[in-house]
Amino acid sequence: MNKVSVVGTGYVGLVTGTCLAEIGNDVIGVDIDENKINNLRNSISPIFEPGIEELLKRNINQGRLRFTTDIKYAVENSSIIFIAVGTPPLPTGDADLSYVKSVSELVGKYMNGYKIVVNKSTVPIGMGDIVTKIIMENQSESFDFEVVSNPEFLKEGSAINDFFFPDRIIIGTRTEGAAQTMINLYRPLKSPIIVTDVRSAEMIKYASNAFLATKISFINEIAALCEKVGADIELVSHGMGMDKRINPMFLKAGAGFGGSCFPKDISALIKIGEQNNINLGIVKSAQEANFKQRKMVFSKIKNLCNPLENKTIGILGVSFKPNTDDIREAPSIDITRWFLSEGCKVRIYDPVANDEFRKIFNNSIEYAKNPVELARDVDLLLLLTEWNEFKELNFTELKSVVRSPYFFDARNTYDPNHVQSKGFIYDSIGRGSGIPHSTIIDNY
Ligand SMILES: NC(=O)c1ccc[n+]([C@@H]2O[C@H](COP(=O)([O-])OP(=O)(O)OC[C@H]3O[C@@H](n4cnc5c(N)ncnc54)[C@H](O)[C@@H]3O)[C@@H](O)[C@H]2O)c1
Repeated sequence: MNKVSVVGTGYVGLVTGTCLAEIGNDVIGVDIDENKINNLRNSISPIFEPGIEELLKRNINQGRLRFTTDIKYAVENSSIIFIAVGTPPLPTGDADLSYVKSVSELVGKYMNGYKIVVNKSTVPIGMGDIVTKIIMENQSESFDFEVVSNPEFLKEGSAINDFFFPDRIIIGTRTEGAAQTMINLYRPLKSPIIVTDVRSAEMIKYASNAFLATKISFINEIAALCEKVGADIELVSHGMGMDKRINPMFLKAGAGFGGSCFPKDISALIKIGEQNNINLGIVKSAQEANFKQRKMVFSKIKNLCNPLENKTIGILGVSFKPNTDDIREAPSIDITRWFLSEGCKVRIYDPVANDEFRKIFNNSIEYAKNPVELARDVDLLLLLTEWNEFKELNFTELKSVVRSPYFFDARNTYDPNHVQSKGFIYDSIGRGSGIPHSTIIDNY
């Protein structure tokens, strides 16, 4: 059993801390947000993540998991300290490292013996050295310590499963001893562990996200061409994805990527490139293509439902992907603003993210409690997040309540023929409304 603290109880810190407790460690979760900590003590999760509250309850009850705002107590009572605070984008595109730095200062200040400080936040290459320096400068007494980079690859919505069954665990460290402690910590997961130097570990995270983001932008660009030449992007990406060298993941055309990671991480990587005189042209293009994709969705809707002024738009799904309440950098935010600026009335329904959206849009839009309430008297329905409950919409019922039967499927969730057969005028990405959708036969 290891004594572990996790500083930051957001998506990453909360999942990491809770799951480390589940595999038998003694874990203290720390946050500056008192409200979050009070809720967590009562097993109330501040985030929507399937399965998290059961795990919280079990591990708190069994005494392996505690929460505090007192970082001094946490540092003094643990030998492995994870830093899992946010690294949001600055207006310049660089990562804001102030939270990681301020935690490093306090870790140094309260250190009372040998500690391994593990950076789980996504940080620019070289941050391990900066954290080391900050800790040394803030120690009241000189204690030995090691800074390890252990980037996180969890996906919101399947974060717990991703913790227990990761494709790989990356441990960046200078010393054999720290590597061994981290290997022992993760041994129960039985997953491949790759030990690297600290800078390579930091780079693996940025390069992985940039690659995945590029894959999405690539397929979106091909989707635009499919539409012009009369091909169907769904069939094209299925055919491409069957090639093991390509694989089907992140090959789904849509409204482009959002979320708290890809947009900020590729901006930060581009900045790191600039600071080192390396032009990351491919990454820049992926970023540019992503912004264009949102615009493209909007202008397609504008053409479909012309003129937009005074129209009521119903948006199905606003979280940046299904199974999360996270709306950070979600395409829905820009698209909602553009509708409002065209003089539209906007109503949204998301299974869990309505309240998050309300924090941005307050009373400037309406919030529905289900798809039918959303659809009442709208001129266009726009599916932006492919939540499971949107995969089997009752189009007959929806058709009976809408004002005009336009359906824009920005996630290519439906067979166009199916929606059209229910009396809707349908459009999607890279297929065009008129293109017949062929059947995919995998084995015959
Ligand atoms: N969310 C993801 O899917 C994901 C995946 C992989 C990596 N990451 C990276 O992990 C890091 C954390 O991301 P997140 O989504 O969990 O962020 P988050 O914003 O959900 O959570 C950060 C938490 O840190 C707390 N915090 C801030 N300053 C603090 C301090 N001084 N002491 C204690 N707590 C403090 C905040 O109150 C908040 O609860 C980021 O660098 C992110 O890029 C995120």
